[in-house]
Amino acid sequence: MSWFDLAGRDLIAETEWTKEEYDVAMKVTDQLKGAYYSRKAHPYLEHKTFAMMFFAGSTRTRMSFETAMTQLGGHAQFINPQTMRLSLEDKPGAGETVKDTAEAMARYCDGIGIRLLDDGVQYYGHGDLVMRRFAEHARVPVINMASDINHPCQSLTDLYTMQEKLGCVKKKKIVIMWAYSPWIRGWCSVQGTALLSSMYGMDVVVAHPKEYDLDPKVMAECRALSSQSGGSFEVTNHLDKALDGATVVFPRNWFTKDRYTIGKEKEAEIAKRYTDWKYTAERQKKLCAPGYLLQCMPVDRGNEADPEVCDNALSWILDQAENRLHTQKGILVLTMGGRL
Ligand code: CP
Repeated sequence: MSWFDLAGRDLIAETEWTKEEYDVAMKVTDQLKGAYYSRKAHPYLEHKTFAMMFFAGSTRTRMSFETAMTQLGGHAQFINPQTMRLSLEDKPGAGETVKDTAEAMARYCDGIGIRLLDDGVQYYGHGDLVMRRFAEHARVPVINMASDINHPCQSLTDLYTMQEKLGCVKKKKIVIMWAYSPWIRGWCSVQGTALLSSMYGMDVVVAHPKEYDLDPKVMAECRALSSQSGGSFEVTNHLDKALDGATVVFPRNWFTKDRYTIGKEKEAEIAKRYTDWKYTAERQKKLCAPGYLLQCMPVDRGNEADPEVCDNALSWILDQAENRLHTQKGILVLTMGGRL
C-alpha cells in the first residue's frame, strides 16, 4: 500500500482498514504525539473543517476531535442533529433526507464524523446503516465516532495504547469482560477492541454471562482475524477462569441482543443477576499476571471496576483517554489529505 491510499477513505468498521493501514496510522500518530509533547506546531489540516454530528452524548470523543482539529490548524464544527431538519426515515413528509443532508454538508466541510447508537437508533445495525448512507452520498471521508456496531477511533486508541505500554502485543492475553452496571451500554467499544486485538495476534478472551452474547458476525470476524494473525479467540461464561494470566483486562457493561425489543427496564433486571461480575482489586491481585486496566471510559466506578483498580499503577485509563487525541489526529490527517 501507499500512505496516500488512506486519503479520502471512510472509517466506519474496524475491518475496513487493513493491519498495514493501521500500522501507518499508528506511525503517524507517534509523530503527531511527539510534536504535541515537543510543543511543535503541526497545522497539517489548515483551513479544513471536520463536521461532527452527535446523536448521542460524549465527553472524550467530542473534546478530542475538537482539540485535534484546533491543533491541526483547522476547525471542528459541532452539530446537534436536533437543530437540523434531518430525518433518518427517508420518506416524504418526514424531513430532509440523508442523501440531501450529506451532499450539502460535503460542500462545506472536508470530513464528517457521526455518533449514532443506543437511544438514537431503533434496531441493532440502524446506526451503521445511516453512516453508510452518509458515506455513499458525502464526497468527503465519513468517520465513525461510535455506532451501534463499531467504535474504530476508540479501538485504534486501545491498540495504540497497548502497543505503547507493552511493545509487541502479539500473544499477550486480553480479557474483555462483561461487567455489571445499571447504565446499560452498547456493544461498539467491546466489539471494536475485540476486532483489532484479534487482528494484531493477541490472545483474546471475551467473558460474559450466558445472556450477553455479542454480534455473531463480529465474533466470526474476530475468529477469522485471529487465525490469520496467529492469535487466539475464545468466548466463555466463566469469569475467574478467563481472567487467569491476563496481561490486560477491559471490564465493560453491555446489553443483551434483545435490548431494542425488551427495553431498558427489563435489561436492568437481567443485569442485576450478575452484580458480582466486576473487576475488583481482589481479582486483580489473584491473576498471576499484571491485569492492566484498559477501559474506554466513562467507567462505572464501584460497578464495572473498583475505584482502587481505576486509580492504581496498573490503570491505563487516562493515558488511553489522552491517546484518543493523538490517534484521531492520525486518522484525520491521513483521510482528509494532510501531509507530514
Ligand atoms: N470512550 C468514549 O467514546 O467516550 P465518550 O462517550 O465520552 O466520547
